[in-house]
Amino acid sequence: MNNDIEEVLFDQDQIHQAAARIGQQITRDFDGHRPLFLSVLKGAYLWTADVLRQVDLYADLEFIKISSYHGGVESSDEIELVTDIRREVADRDVIILEDIVDTGQSLLFLKDLLAQRGARSIQVACLLDKKGGRKVDVTADYVGFDVRNEFVVGYGLDYAESYRNLPYVGVLKPSVYAK
Ligand code: PRP
Repeated sequence: MNNDIEEVLFDQDQIHQAAARIGQQITRDFDGHRPLFLSVLKGAYLWTADVLRQVDLYADLEFIKISSYHGGVESSDEIELVTDIRREVADRDVIILEDIVDTGQSLLFLKDLLAQRGARSIQVACLLDKKGGRKVDVTADYVGFDVRNEFVVGYGLDYAESYRNLPYVGVLKPSVYAK
């Protein structure tokens, strides 16, 4: 699996440092509040664990599953709500945990959904921000790292469901998805 990676961009230590920076910032920003963390499956599973262990607040955690890529390297433009949450979000301060914001369409879909449901505030903490990929106007509030417009995998991010278990974020060799 490691042989399919062209370049390692961020290793586990760098990611843990980013999670600590963001987790501590969230702790300061939400002092006295009980935020609801909304982790977006599947990609955000490791990032969620890293950030939350750095947050010193009473908080709730929910998992939602949406899908946009359908196994390819390009976003499909159509977002599907695969598994919803059951918890009320009305009047809650919601912090969305995402692995990557690329076109921004998944995030916009989620922010619209939460706004419709009456969330008091909606913030976003992402591991990776691919600003060059944006198709819609949406921004993340807490960003681990900016990435170039390359197809990255690992640390939760997949290609055709593989590579989520790589302990780093790396660039996938184009030869892998050209096959
Ligand atoms: C990926 C990623 C984000 C979204 C970002 O999820 O986890 O949720 O795409 O892309 P966008 O900004 O272009 O919308 P995906 O739909 O591949 O599901 P997964 O997390 O289960 O891999």
